[in-house]
Amino acid sequence: MVIGGNSSQGLARRIAKKLKAGYVNTSTRTFPDGESKITIKKIPKKKIIVVVQSTFPPVDSNLLHLLSIISQARKYSSKIYAVIPYLGYARQDREFLDGEVVTVSVIGKMLKSVGTKKVIVVDIHSKLALKQLGISSENVSAVSNLANYIKKLKLKDPLVVSPDQGGKERADEFADALKIDFIALKKHRDRKTGKINIITTKASVKDRDLVLVDDMISTGGSIIKATQFLKKQKCRRIYVACTHGLFVNDAEKKIKQAGVTQIIST
Ligand code: R5P
Repeated sequence: MVIGGNSSQGLARRIAKKLKAGYVNTSTRTFPDGESKITIKKIPKKKIIVVVQSTFPPVDSNLLHLLSIISQARKYSSKIYAVIPYLGYARQDREFLDGEVVTVSVIGKMLKSVGTKKVIVVDIHSKLALKQLGISSENVSAVSNLANYIKKLKLKDPLVVSPDQGGKERADEFADALKIDFIALKKHRDRKTGKINIITTKASVKDRDLVLVDDMISTGGSIIKATQFLKKQKCRRIYVACTHGLFVNDAEKKIKQAGVTQIIST
């Protein structure tokens, strides 16, 4: 049976349909102090339970929902699979500065302690993040779906671009699906201020259509900096493809204002 958490009920229903499994809904009531009362609407009487709950913003609240649902579901089954399409905190996969908490590993411990058997995520930020979860897990990718969309566009001499070195493997996979080349820019993020700079000085992108590929867009800072650099190098149009479009505040507007032709996300 598939249980849909508050953030992913539409997706959970579709997964249930594909699996020919029963669907169980959840409801949430929020108290004046901000606490939630979460209820699983029907007792799932099956051996395997799949809980679907993405943890996009509000990240902490959606995460607590996920943990609460799994904890309750564990009373009915020992085989609980957690489908978490967007796993918040995956970028906190290492101690960049002394004393920083590797929160993704804390999340792994919590998922384990409430009784999760296995976690399934989509295009997680890094392999290290998956490792830090410290629980049986699998990453599935939306890259081929995004690439299929790009294939339908009539691009001129296209090139895939990763805004940073961390996304090199993803860009390689994307370019492979399109049978074109890729490059990865060098990005620097100040770990104290969060300020981003592109440190690549030259790229052969003149008069070419570009596909900027990233796992996620949050504030849009990384994509905007890369776009500004690529525009200076006199590229043609820029298409942006990402799996997780969070578009925090007015990120989408700012990306378009920077000169991006189209943003494609799941
Ligand atoms: C960073 O390494 C990630 O892959 C993304 O490029 C980044 O986190 C997106 O965040 P923002 O949109 O705020 O720059």
